[in-house]
Amino acid sequence: MERKNILAPSILSANFVNLGKDIEDVVAAGCEWLHIDVMDGRFVPSLSFAMPVIESIRPVTDTFFDVHLMIENPEQYVEQFARCGADGITVHAEATNHLHRAIYQIKDTGKRAGVALNPATPLDVLDYVMEDLDMVLIMTVNPGFGGQKYIPQMTEKIRTIRRKAMEMGRQIDIEVDGGIKEYTLRMVLEAGANVCVAGSAVFDGKNTKENAERLRAIMEEYKSF
Ligand code: DX5
Ligand code: ZN
Repeated sequence: MERKNILAPSILSANFVNLGKDIEDVVAAGCEWLHIDVMDGRFVPSLSFAMPVIESIRPVTDTFFDVHLMIENPEQYVEQFARCGADGITVHAEATNHLHRAIYQIKDTGKRAGVALNPATPLDVLDYVMEDLDMVLIMTVNPGFGGQKYIPQMTEKIRTIRRKAMEMGRQIDIEVDGGIKEYTLRMVLEAGANVCVAGSAVFDGKNTKENAERLRAIMEEYKSF
C-alpha cells in the first residue's frame, strides 16, 4: 500500500477554551494525527500541559496522538504517557543519558517510538538506535515555543537522514517540527520528510479547517517516502 504524507497539527497553538472545537476542525479537514507538545520548563524554557489534557481529549477523537516530550529524563514518565492515551512517544536524544533504554521503554508499552534531535544535534547520535525506531523527529526550530522561524540548515539534515534510512532499507517516518508554513512545507517534503507538524499555520483562531485542508493538499502533491 502506498504511504501517505501526514499533517500533524500541534495543539500547542490551539485555543484551550475551545480545544474540542479546534480538534473537530482539524479532524474534519482529514487530519489523522494530533501533535501534542509536553514541556517541563527545564529541558525547554517553557511549560505546557501533560496527562490531564491528553486524558480529557482521548475520548473525543480516534486520531493518532503523537506525543512530543520536551522533558528531562523522559524515561520517568513514558509509562504514564502511554497509559493516558499516547499512540506514539518521542523523546529528545539530548534529554536522557539512556536513550536506548528510553526507546525500549516506549516499545515495551506497545507504542511507536520516536527520537527528536535539536537543530544543533548531529545525526550520528542515532547510529546505534536507528534500527529500533519508528520515527525520527528533526526539530526545524529550537524547541520551546510555537511561531518561530524555520532554520534553513535543517533542510540538508532532513535529506541526510532520509538517505540513511533508505540505505538501511527502512521506511521510517521522518517528522519535522517548527516553522512549517506553505513555503517551508514544500522544502521539507522535497527533502524527505513525510510527517509534518504545524502549529501556528493551522490554529489561527479563524480558519483552522481551511488552513489544515490547504496544507494537506500541498502534502498530497508529493509522493511519500
Ligand atoms: C516547538 C513545538 C512545536 C510547535 C510548532 O517547540 O515542538 O510542535 O508547536 O509550532 P509552529 O508550527 O508554530 O512553529
Ligand atoms: Zn513538537
